[in-house]
Amino acid sequence: MSKKQMKGIVLAGGTATRLFPLTATTSKQLLPVYDRQMVFYPLNVLVKAGIKDILVIVAPEHSGQFLNLLGSIFKNHGIHLYFEVQKVPRGLADAFIQGESFIDDGNVAMILGDNIFEDDLTSHIKNFSSGGVIFAKQVPDPERFGVVDFDAQGKALSIEEKPEKPKSNFCVTGAYIYDNRVVEIAKNLEPSIRGEIEITSINQKYLEMGELKVNTITGEWLDAGTYDSLLAAGNIVRDKEIYKNFDPLIDQAISEFNAELKAIAKKKLL
Ligand code: DAU
Repeated sequence: MSKKQMKGIVLAGGTATRLFPLTATTSKQLLPVYDRQMVFYPLNVLVKAGIKDILVIVAPEHSGQFLNLLGSIFKNHGIHLYFEVQKVPRGLADAFIQGESFIDDGNVAMILGDNIFEDDLTSHIKNFSSGGVIFAKQVPDPERFGVVDFDAQGKALSIEEKPEKPKSNFCVTGAYIYDNRVVEIAKNLEPSIRGEIEITSINQKYLEMGELKVNTITGEWLDAGTYDSLLAAGNIVRDKEIYKNFDPLIDQAISEFNAELKAIAKKKLL
């Protein structure tokens, strides 16, 4: 049986009120993390894993900026980027509803637009066959995240979204791999108390079906959603040389883009 095609999604919408006024003028995922825009980090996870079709979901107010940066950047590199505007930030699970026709009958790997992973997730994406796969990381402040609890054998027992009393210090990071059933699961979700359709509800569903695999990661994982975590992300990327983990294709595409911008600035292309 041939394997279903793996599609990629970078979820890069939302309003990022915690980062005002920085995000009054641009999208959080277009803010710099060391030498490039944040969105290249989640894109890299998917490109490294060999995914050729990637949907970038953006907020309406910043859609033009995303197109300016990414619209043609991979044109000569065999990567096809698609864009979808999410008018209202209805929740992470909405990505699979917005992306339904893009996903088609494929499987899908989604990375949050503000998540930076040091670990290489390539083998998990390439070897995926069915169900759901997520990645947990030990953190000091699990109550800020989705939290997964394990039994003594390392089997996931429960997943809760931002629990007041976390059952463990393993948080669910922003990388998710699902089979095609995720679209129907997302379409049937009810909004949570905070008024969002939650990715945690999707994970709970796969867990109930006995088809959720939870991997733990040990490398740096940065969720650059506050002033401090944004600053820390840039410093850690520089100090631990995480910028060296980019797929050569991305580095090349960025340097071509830079050269083009410089040439235009010098009016050499006019
Ligand atoms: O970062 C990992 C955490 O991400 C998980 O542990 C949680 O289970 C998950 O719910 C999520 O937590 P947050 O509530 O902190 O996510 P946030 O609202 O910051 O959104 C994450 C990214 O997705 C961010 O870049 C904005 C974007 N986004 C968010 C929403 C709600 C969208 O593009 N559209 C949306 O509708």
